[in-house]
Amino acid sequence: MPLEITPAAPADDALYALYELDEAVDRGADLPLFTRPAHLAYHRHPPPAQEVRYGLARLDGELVGYTTLLFPQRDNLRTVEVGTVAVHPEHRRRGIGRALADFAVAEARRRGRSTLIGASARALPGGPARDPAGGAFARALGATCAQTEVRRRLDLTAAPDAAPAAAATRATTAPDSTAPDGLAPDGAIADGAAPDGARGGARAGSAGYSLVRWALRAPADCVDDVAYLDGRLLVDAPLGDLAWEPQRLDAARVRANEHRLAAALRRPYNVAARHDATGRLVAWTQILCADNADGHAWQQITIVDPAHRGHGLGLLVKVANLRYARAHEPGLRVVDTFNAAENGHMIAINERMGYRPLDAWENWQRTLD
Ligand SMILES: CC(C)(COP(=O)(O)OP(=O)(O)OC[C@H]1O[C@@H](n2cnc3c(N)ncnc32)[C@H](O)[C@@H]1OP(=O)(O)O)[C@@H](O)C(=O)NCCC(=O)NCCS
Repeated sequence: MPLEITPAAPADDALYALYELDEAVDRGADLPLFTRPAHLAYHRHPPPAQEVRYGLARLDGELVGYTTLLFPQRDNLRTVEVGTVAVHPEHRRRGIGRALADFAVAEARRRGRSTLIGASARALPGGPARDPAGGAFARALGATCAQTEVRRRLDLTAAPDAAPAAAATRATTAPDSTAPDGLAPDGAIADGAAPDGARGGARAGSAGYSLVRWALRAPADCVDDVAYLDGRLLVDAPLGDLAWEPQRLDAARVRANEHRLAAALRRPYNVAARHDATGRLVAWTQILCADNADGHAWQQITIVDPAHRGHGLGLLVKVANLRYARAHEPGLRVVDTFNAAENGHMIAINERMGYRPLDAWENWQRTLD
């Protein structure tokens, strides 16, 4: 039987087989492989406002590779994100990757998309080895590197506290507004709990701001501000030459994303800073946990509204959130985060917290004629 590339949607049973394939693909030994339930739940519950399609490559009926394509539905209507192109190591250099890329291009054209964006890892001097295949493959397909990000890791086993004392004493926590969290997957985050005992405290450096935290579901009076701050991310973060446009976010989409994270068995932890004078959230950060054998989590979003920069809020919310997550995730060992290589302010905060470079991730972009 020749090579076959067939489309699949997130609900298809065929996606069960991706777990075995992902186990075999070199993700970089230090990237987490989620437990099977977490893996399947993630594939079955894609992000809101995205159409997700898979291309499955079968050789003699055996699944040997796949690609994941995300088509934004509310913004970035000319772009497709290539979430994955992966080929089983025993079947490489036989044109399967190229066939998956052809599938991606055909799906993009069918939907009127002209820009494809995807990423691959590259080793950094002194860092762990990385297979150069991804970059070579992207280049061979005519993509160019539009931006480089660096993945940094905070090793909590090496730096057990991982919170600079200066930042810790700045923290002041408002009456905890952790929502009565109907969506919490395991109820682990008690309503109103203050896991780090951080209520009150010195206000130096953060006078006029209070911390708010929640797990899955943002408090009702925060959700519009979360949408605003989330929407700023693709405006404010350095994007290099990447053709991403700002996302269109509103409260409904924030809620839809919360539902999706719960369904996908992800456990988010959020801390925001509220500007006392206006009552608005002006800084926000998120850590995302999911079951894996490595005690691994992702430090995701961190954003400070431009009018409130220079007050140490970025570091403040990140340190508070790390404590919040650790208090509820006793198995947490390492936290990874991505930053654009040119994002000096964010990198300085991360380095201060103990994050150290691990590898580089090149964001590849290909524009169709
Ligand atoms: C990258 C990957 C998908 C390539 O799959 P593949 O089936 O081996 O790709 P193909 O055989 O279609 O290769 C297409 C071209 O890419 C280039 N290429 C692929 N792997 C390469 C390697 N290891 N070294 C140098 N060039 C390479 C070559 O130009 C190749 O053409 P050629 O074989 O005629 O010389 C596969 O190595 C993989 O799954 N890697 C891990 C995940 C990853 O990095 N994904 C890519 C993200 S951009």
